[in-house]
Amino acid sequence: MAPWFPNLVVQLPDQFLLLFIIILLFLCSSTTCFTISGQAEALVKWKDSLDMNPTTHSLLRSWNLNSTVSTSHHLYNNNPCTWVGITCNGYGSVINITLESSNLKGSIPVSIGNLSKLTELDLGSLPPEMNNLTNLEELLLSNNFLYGYLPENICLGGRLKKIAVSYHYFTCSIPKSMRNCNSVVRVLLGVNEFTGNMSEDFGIYPNLVYMELGNNKFFGKLTRNWGHCQKLTMLNISNNKVSGMLPPELGKATQLQKLDLSSNLLVGKIPKELGQLRLLYILKLNNNTLSGNVPAQIGMLFDLQQLDLADNKLGGPFPKHLEQCANLENLNFRSNRFSGAVPFQIGNFHSLRNVDLSRNMLIGDLPPELGNLFLLETLNLSITIS
Ligand SMILES: *[C@@H]1O[C@H](CO)[C@@H](O)[C@H](O)[C@H]1NC(C)=O
Ligand SMILES: *[C@@H]1O[C@H](CO)[C@@H](O)[C@H](O)[C@H]1NC(C)=O
Ligand SMILES: *[C@@H]1O[C@H](CO)[C@@H](O)[C@H](O)[C@H]1NC(C)=O
Ligand SMILES: *[C@@H]1O[C@H](CO)[C@@H](O)[C@H](O)[C@H]1NC(C)=O
Ligand SMILES: *[C@@H]1O[C@H](CO)[C@@H](O)[C@H](O)[C@H]1NC(C)=O
Ligand SMILES: *[C@@H]1O[C@H](CO)[C@@H](O)[C@H](O)[C@H]1NC(C)=O
Ligand SMILES: *[C@@H]1O[C@H](CO)[C@@H](O)[C@H](O)[C@H]1NC(C)=O
Ligand SMILES: *[C@@H]1O[C@H](CO)[C@@H](O)[C@H](O)[C@H]1NC(C)=O
Repeated sequence: MAPWFPNLVVQLPDQFLLLFIIILLFLCSSTTCFTISGQAEALVKWKDSLDMNPTTHSLLRSWNLNSTVSTSHHLYNNNPCTWVGITCNGYGSVINITLESSNLKGSIPVSIGNLSKLTELDLGSLPPEMNNLTNLEELLLSNNFLYGYLPENICLGGRLKKIAVSYHYFTCSIPKSMRNCNSVVRVLLGVNEFTGNMSEDFGIYPNLVYMELGNNKFFGKLTRNWGHCQKLTMLNISNNKVSGMLPPELGKATQLQKLDLSSNLLVGKIPKELGQLRLLYILKLNNNTLSGNVPAQIGMLFDLQQLDLADNKLGGPFPKHLEQCANLENLNFRSNRFSGAVPFQIGNFHSLRNVDLSRNMLIGDLPPELGNLFLLETLNLSITIS
């Protein structure tokens, strides 16, 4: 079994009185669990990684490797089973860590390195008490053994900045509190089975820098709200069921560097306003049902390196204005309705490496200027030229 680490990072803001309960169930047999001293060390390591304050300091006083520690009420030793908040099974393995505290801040329990010796960790689903963590700033779940629902109230307190969930495990609606989550900066929910209506469940995110929703089941339309994301550098909603037209307001998210809306159900034209995204270097709109011409303004994307418009219903003459995109390396127009001849200006696309013009209605002779494309590696013209 490959070693893995549960990675449940929960940052609690100061000055908020929170009852904080995390239940870890370590299912293990007597032979596969780590040793008692290993557990103790691991727990102390975790404790040391926490930002301690007087309250947590006294709460976790018993978490100590000294052979015995006595307080006015208790006698503890380096068997963690006797420590505050720890429950062990019959084999002396920690099965339950329960901490109730105000002001606990830190990582749980990534620093417990010895967990790698366990054969199984079952968190079942996130404990329902997570729903009360309305003031989280970061929720990072990258644990292959987590299932279920994200805490609904995750952003009720308006403090959430980062939410990241590992691949494959979440099959649910996006938490409703995401809609008003103005504080959010980074959202990484790619490759799960999240569902949600793009126009209802997402709001206005002035601080958003990174949004990765690819390979889920989001549906509904993109709203003009995306134009208010003035800090957004990456928007990836590829491979969902997003429908409707591309909102022209997307052109106001001028920090965008990567825009991937491929493999959705988008229709209508490519808005000319996308030409305002001067920092864009990846634009993927392939595998939708977009129609119309490639607007001349796309030629203003001077940093563009990858333009993938394959598998749409785009038409008109080959968009020669793209010659201004001096950094364009990968150009994919496969399976569209471009017609006419390949213009001689293609010889000015000096950075081109991979070009796929297959399955269009282009006709005529290839311009000799193609010979100027010294970096060209592949050029697919299959079923293009009659
Ligand atoms: C695991 O515990 C052992 C003691 O049993 C200790 O030597 C080792 O450093 C621990 N490993 C980690 C990654 O914490
Ligand atoms: C107990 O451990 C603390 C650090 O955790 C150390 O400062 C102290 O000297 C130790 N006491 C004994 C009796 O070993
Ligand atoms: C863990 O401890 C808490 C508090 O003592 C308790 O409510 C919960 O039932 C325990 N869970 C397990 C699996 O023992
Ligand atoms: C969590 O919130 C619910 C109300 O939503 C409340 O009934 C419950 O007592 C809270 N639980 C804790 C552990 O604070
Ligand atoms: C968008 O997300 C999907 C799924 O996670 C990924 O395969 C794809 O490479 C991403 N696109 C970009 C441009 O990073
Ligand atoms: C998504 O939400 C919008 C706005 O409330 C609504 O008009 C639309 O019908 C919803 N789409 C779906 C597929 O439910
Ligand atoms: C196109 O998108 C559909 C879903 O809309 C997906 O099933 C299919 O695999 C995609 N095709 C390609 C070539 O990416
Ligand atoms: C060229 O394009 C055709 C049609 O899209 C495709 O079937 C073929 O595999 C492509 N050839 C190469 C070498 O990629």
